[in-house]
Amino acid sequence: MSKPSYDWLNKLPKIELHLHIEGTLEPELMFELAQRNAISLPYNNVEEAKAAYQFNNLQDFLNIYYQSAQVLQSEQDFYDLTWAYINKSHEQNVVHIEPFFDPQTHTSRGISFATVISGICRALEDGEKEFGITYCLIMCFLRHLSESEAIETLELAKPHLEKIDAVGLDSSELNHPPEKFSQVFSLAKESGLKLVAHAGEEGPAGYIWSALDNLAVERIDHGVRALDDTELVVRLIESKIPLTMCPLSNVKLKVFESMSEHTILKMLELGLSVCVNSDDPSYFGGYITENFNELSQHLSLSKKQANQLVQNSINGCFASEIRKKEIQVLLDDYLIIG
Ligand code: HPA
Ligand code: ZN
Repeated sequence: MSKPSYDWLNKLPKIELHLHIEGTLEPELMFELAQRNAISLPYNNVEEAKAAYQFNNLQDFLNIYYQSAQVLQSEQDFYDLTWAYINKSHEQNVVHIEPFFDPQTHTSRGISFATVISGICRALEDGEKEFGITYCLIMCFLRHLSESEAIETLELAKPHLEKIDAVGLDSSELNHPPEKFSQVFSLAKESGLKLVAHAGEEGPAGYIWSALDNLAVERIDHGVRALDDTELVVRLIESKIPLTMCPLSNVKLKVFESMSEHTILKMLELGLSVCVNSDDPSYFGGYITENFNELSQHLSLSKKQANQLVQNSINGCFASEIRKKEIQVLLDDYLIIG
């Protein structure tokens, strides 16, 4: 098989498993919502906002990301945010999505949980009706806040549990190890939710062990630091734990100096269940096709490897078995033609 072009990668049926819905807020929509809600921004225009998106680490990014999220106020704002991402997903032939949302970023500003989840879910439902894009929704706890605040958030989510498939853990990783949240993850599991967590993005391989052993997660978000620990690599390969990688994010946040140093394809060749995702596309310079294309440009991704990366997303997603089979057929048919 030959080297995949951008167009081939764009048409490849894809799944997105690591995507923060607040991280899809494009500067254009940010300005529109700021005007709609009479909120002042620290930028005069879109170009100035984009110019500010230079980060040395995760915290630099999070500071800007939380500030920008303040323009999201009404149910319609959350709808518009999500609808824009769904349209982009449709353009890029993403057929199933599992977005994260961060309720605490909004409830702490006096926005109700119902406002946030209703707007997001109305757009997700419309996306399935209009484009056939299926979805699961993941509620993340902010790890820089306390576990008791996470438990309060789980309580707020209780009336909406039929809309939520899983819980996750995001925000500042260093000094906030997974075990800080073992109780709330156990409560979430008792409520029938699936479990995922960010681990091993900036934090050490030990945080991946902790997410597996103390939180009992089914997927690790990022997990690039796994390669530091041979025993962990064996465990991840044997248990087929999906690692939801985000190449452009890792370079933007200086987890890797450059894309050519990214270890995703090395991990793939070792037999780790890595897949490709965009994390916070409006801040990191691209959506899922751009992430695949970076691997093609800088790491000589082959079509066979691109196929395996999507295969890993199918295996690791929370869609029903019937839906997984449908997506498998889409992928297999595409590879026969392409
Ligand atoms: N890491 C941790 N928390 C986040 C991220 C990320 O890449 N994006 C949004 N919240
Ligand atoms: Zn993330």
